[in-house]
Amino acid sequence: MLPIKEIEEFVKSETKNVDSIAHDFGHLKRTAIGARWFVKILNGDKKEQDLAYIAGLLHDIVRAPTDKISHIKNGVEKTRKILEQFKLEKTVTNKIIEAIKMHGEPGIQKDVLQQSVFLADKILEAMGAYVVFRRAIYHAESSDFSGMSLEEATIYHYTWRMKKFNPSVFHKKFSKLITYQYYWPLHFLNAFKRKEEWALYLERIGYEYGSKKLPIEKLIKNFEPKFKEDEKYKKEALFYIQGKKFEEFEKMI
Ligand SMILES: [Fe+2]
Ligand SMILES: [Fe+2]
Repeated sequence: MLPIKEIEEFVKSETKNVDSIAHDFGHLKRTAIGARWFVKILNGDKKEQDLAYIAGLLHDIVRAPTDKISHIKNGVEKTRKILEQFKLEKTVTNKIIEAIKMHGEPGIQKDVLQQSVFLADKILEAMGAYVVFRRAIYHAESSDFSGMSLEEATIYHYTWRMKKFNPSVFHKKFSKLITYQYYWPLHFLNAFKRKEEWALYLERIGYEYGSKKLPIEKLIKNFEPKFKEDEKYKKEALFYIQGKKFEEFEKMI
């Protein structure tokens, strides 16, 4: 039996004072849940589901608030030490390590486990209404945007991400789910460019939370919508962090 609970507790305490709020324990745990879910959807067995969960918990265990330096190498080193501590078999450790190594770039995943961690991190955690809140926090904490106004940072960051992880880099099997998830940040970005009030307001409030290093769950729960659109985003993001979207997502695959 894999010591999943123990590893989770360890990760939780290890990430109490993370460098990046957008990559805190909440993000790790949701990626773990999402990765396990994808393995199930892709007909992986219980063992693979457990490995995906552990890989999800550890995939950003070292993560500075910047995309300019890769976090993979240091994350892998730290993961190896953690898994050694929990006395996991070498073959099991290697499978988890490989999944972590492959989570950053599209098209390099070789098996269901690697795919699942990548998909959870990119389709569930880096798309959807939720990511609009998450990115606003990241814009406040990341050094990548220093010297830019919030408007410039937002447009620059969204444009870069949406190009790198556009629907065509994912397997056709997920196209319906991706179209659905991709729509939320895309619609937000277009509204933000047009300076629509709801989008400017949502970004500004999220940025304020990020400046105070407050977690995304708090932002989403406390966010007070002023317009129809941002009310829709809050509701959707809240449903996602409460784990209430999976049934609907499953119908899209
Ligand atoms: Fe990552
Ligand atoms: Fe991540």
